[in-house]
Amino acid sequence: MRIGVITGGGDCPGLNAVIRAIIRKGEAVYGHTLIGYKNGWKGVVERNSYEMTIAGTRGLLHRGGTILGTSRLSPTQVQDGAQKVKATMKADNVDALITIGGEGTLSGATAMSELGINIVGVPKTIDNDINATDITFGFHTAVQIATDAIDRLHTTAESHDRVMVVEVMGRHAGWIAAYSGIAGGADGILVPEKPFDIDVVCEQIKQRHSRGVKFSIIVVAEGASPIEGTLKPMEYEVDEYGHQRLGGIGYQVAREIESRTGFETRETSLGHILRGGTPTAYDRVLATRFGIAAIDAVHNQNYGQMVAISGTQVHTVPLQDATRELKTLDDELLGVAEVFFG
Ligand code: F6P
Repeated sequence: MRIGVITGGGDCPGLNAVIRAIIRKGEAVYGHTLIGYKNGWKGVVERNSYEMTIAGTRGLLHRGGTILGTSRLSPTQVQDGAQKVKATMKADNVDALITIGGEGTLSGATAMSELGINIVGVPKTIDNDINATDITFGFHTAVQIATDAIDRLHTTAESHDRVMVVEVMGRHAGWIAAYSGIAGGADGILVPEKPFDIDVVCEQIKQRHSRGVKFSIIVVAEGASPIEGTLKPMEYEVDEYGHQRLGGIGYQVAREIESRTGFETRETSLGHILRGGTPTAYDRVLATRFGIAAIDAVHNQNYGQMVAISGTQVHTVPLQDATRELKTLDDELLGVAEVFFG
């Protein structure tokens, strides 16, 4: 078989480990030929590809980013997108595609699969918001980086009697904020799933400081927003794919805390630092298992599926189940975090 591979959406630690696993088992065990498409769906639509071999892709396991490049383009946004995908696959003699991506890339994969294209998806996002899988690779790395940063910010918070606001990624779901906040001992965590009341946040900080603790750490997910009518909503630019460029809510929250409480407050936005660099050991293993499961699924012509993990078991689920809705934070986790607020 000839199998195409694409990586789409934001880059993510572990993408190269998935690619490596697909090539290793695809070439060495099954004898398939692997074709890499450059820059996500864009490379399929524009027929920009090259052959990937074990010999030509050594040293990938620990490397961050993606050797294939990425974009947020979906074939559904392109005129005659599905025809272009089919034409490229025909021209390259490619039997099936493995699409490694988040919500946008996998929604494109679901649409193409429904039009009869042979596809297997691999879930990827540091945000951990893909449905039908317990976890996505990249999330563990992002949480570890955020926790390390919170630990470091504690030093300054404590030494200077300051409130430190830390903004982390998390567009629709606050998984990174909740995990890193719990791990880093945050005194407040603001997430997209639960609009916040700035007065309540300030009250909790004041209560804490009235007990003699003179510093606080507040973790804010970039997608967090105030309860309607309580604060001016943020305005965001939109990129060429209609994707909002988030960022800045942490700064707004910090300014409000300082002016409402009188406590000196500083803000740090971790942004793309959370997505960069080498994956943790956990993410390398998960990415490797997902890559192996994806090439197995294609070899067995088990198309229209996404690889996933439930408990410790890697398996496949229908692509539609994965992209129907996002996996948002459960109340139990927020409940655990809230015990430590204020
Ligand atoms: O991939 C998901 C994500 O990390 C979101 O948390 C974030 O909002 C987005 O990517 C940022 O994307 P970009 O790098 O394209 O601005």
